[in-house]
Amino acid sequence: MADFNDSHWSKPEFSSNYVDNADNFIVQRSMMYNVMMSYYRYFIIGVSYNSQAAKARAILDLGCGDGILTHMLLSIDNNASATLADGSNDMLEKARTRMKEFNNVKFLNASFQEVIKDDLLPREFDFVVSSLAIHHLNMAEKASLFASIYNSLKIGGHFLNIDVVIAPCAAIEEWYMTLWKEWNHHRQVSLGMPTSYEHIPALYKSLS
Ligand SMILES: C[S@@+](CC[C@H](N)C(=O)[O-])C[C@H]1O[C@@H](n2cnc3c(N)ncnc32)[C@H](O)[C@@H]1O
Repeated sequence: MADFNDSHWSKPEFSSNYVDNADNFIVQRSMMYNVMMSYYRYFIIGVSYNSQAAKARAILDLGCGDGILTHMLLSIDNNASATLADGSNDMLEKARTRMKEFNNVKFLNASFQEVIKDDLLPREFDFVVSSLAIHHLNMAEKASLFASIYNSLKIGGHFLNIDVVIAPCAAIEEWYMTLWKEWNHHRQVSLGMPTSYEHIPALYKSLS
């Protein structure tokens, strides 16, 4: 299995750059999180997916970064508690700061590889969410993590993974990368930002 400490995410400057600038180079980032909110309102709060629905709900945020997803979820659900997990202690520090107004949160500093190997997830979650994190694993690690997530869910619980997917062929991948650059350019121009993020797609490719 890969070692999280060998990845660029273990470098504080890399994670800080992501937190500071992600809205400027992740295509439709806020839209993706709004879709998650709609899903959560509809399936977890609004519709009784099981008899537990009106009771306390437990959320797990895998690869939580600075806690943006959990912060959004707990802001609309007083009946929820959350566990925020990430391999990066620097990210978890940012998450602790962001979540300081909430006392119904726990933090787990562990890589996905450790989560799998040491079976770190209790079977207690109603909603497991992850965004833009699981694609950092290889295929075998993904399969093992999905099994761990499945086992961590209560019966009737939900898992939502917001992530990038591999293009079906090289020509489509080339277009995806162009579309991404175009989006970055459009955002820079429309917001009048001095910094260009058009290099990010190529950087992402070289790191993956
Ligand atoms: C692109 S950021 C996404 C953060 C947050 N979910 C968001 O949407 O803003 C990816 C996160 O996954 C974490 N991560 C990457 N590889 C990981 C691994 N192998 N184990 C645990 N966390 C990992 C990184 O530290 C980082 O916080």
